[in-house]
Amino acid sequence: MSATASFNPKAFRDALSTFTTGVTIITTRGPDGEPIGITANSFNSVSLNPPLVLWSLAKSAYSLTAFSANKHWNVHVLSTEQEALSGRFASRGEDKFAGIDLDRGINNIPLLHNCTARFQCRTAFMYEGGDHVIFVGEVLSFDKSALPPLAFQSGQYALAARKPREGVRLSSAEELAPECSYTEDLLGYLAGRAHYQLVAYLRTLLQNHKLDEHAFFVLSVLSIQDRLTLEQINRFVGYTGREVSQSMMVFLEKQRYIATELDSGETPRYALTAEGREVSLEHVALAKAVEEDLTEKLGLGDVQALKILLKRLIHATDPGLPDLWVAAPQAAISL
Ligand SMILES: Cc1cc2nc3c(=O)[nH]c(=O)nc-3n(C[C@H](O)[C@H](O)[C@H](O)COP(=O)(O)O)c2cc1C
Repeated sequence: MSATASFNPKAFRDALSTFTTGVTIITTRGPDGEPIGITANSFNSVSLNPPLVLWSLAKSAYSLTAFSANKHWNVHVLSTEQEALSGRFASRGEDKFAGIDLDRGINNIPLLHNCTARFQCRTAFMYEGGDHVIFVGEVLSFDKSALPPLAFQSGQYALAARKPREGVRLSSAEELAPECSYTEDLLGYLAGRAHYQLVAYLRTLLQNHKLDEHAFFVLSVLSIQDRLTLEQINRFVGYTGREVSQSMMVFLEKQRYIATELDSGETPRYALTAEGREVSLEHVALAKAVEEDLTEKLGLGDVQALKILLKRLIHATDPGLPDLWVAAPQAAISL
């Protein structure tokens, strides 16, 4: 082999890591039968007939001896829910298999649960690969689930949202009127339209309960944090740009959805009644049903990717609202 190229190692790594991959855990058994496993994204397909796959293992890895000696190993293509498992099998020293449910694969090699796909292999070839050893394995058996795969790009875990072949267009018009700069690709338009179309399902249920969307937000806040003052409620729903009025609270009380607590001349605090809680639960059940329906249409992986992007969007535009899901001691959100 020719002399080593004088690449800047970090720049070389950075450039290589732009190649987006899945994430796998590869397992085997050591000489005393102990389970061995390692996170690897160097996995790749090689041949369909015969069925061959490959991956490479750092010569510095503790598991090198085990993988060199045991001809059998299993590749687990990780699902989006298995990021923590990937982290665990990428760190040295700890008992990687502690508390993990395993199946026995061919030759008693550990098989992990809840993966996107699994390949049970036997080493066909081993090659020198610089500071790595390349394992080529014959696939003896495999299975696949519907779980979306975890991705890895530029040193970070990622989700693979799909780009449909035909693209996604809302309008059939080939070209917009030249004077119109408002296009279907404006983020504000997309976010707004998505919101209204999504809550349209909720509206009928809300109408049955004589509620509008804003009243629904108030009940949702009170279902998460009880005994709030009007000012605290307003801080939580501040993102709507609409203030919750005293008369809205009076209306909700008349409907018996909320009750007022008055502690010795203090500002009133509001809490859900049993009826209010029930209505709120109905809303949550419907919201979950709508989400399930959408997941059927978009696929679980794309829904997960959409949620991450929405959270990032909300974070990037957050005017500094208090965290609704932190069980705040009253003092932290006090007046
Ligand atoms: C996403 C990801 C992919 C990795 N891919 C590989 C790989 O393909 N080959 C490798 O040798 N190490 C890879 N590693 C690093 C090993 O998982 C890590 O060095 C592990 O601690 C080795 O375990 P061992 O020393 O107990 O054998 C990867 C780590 C991560 C987080």
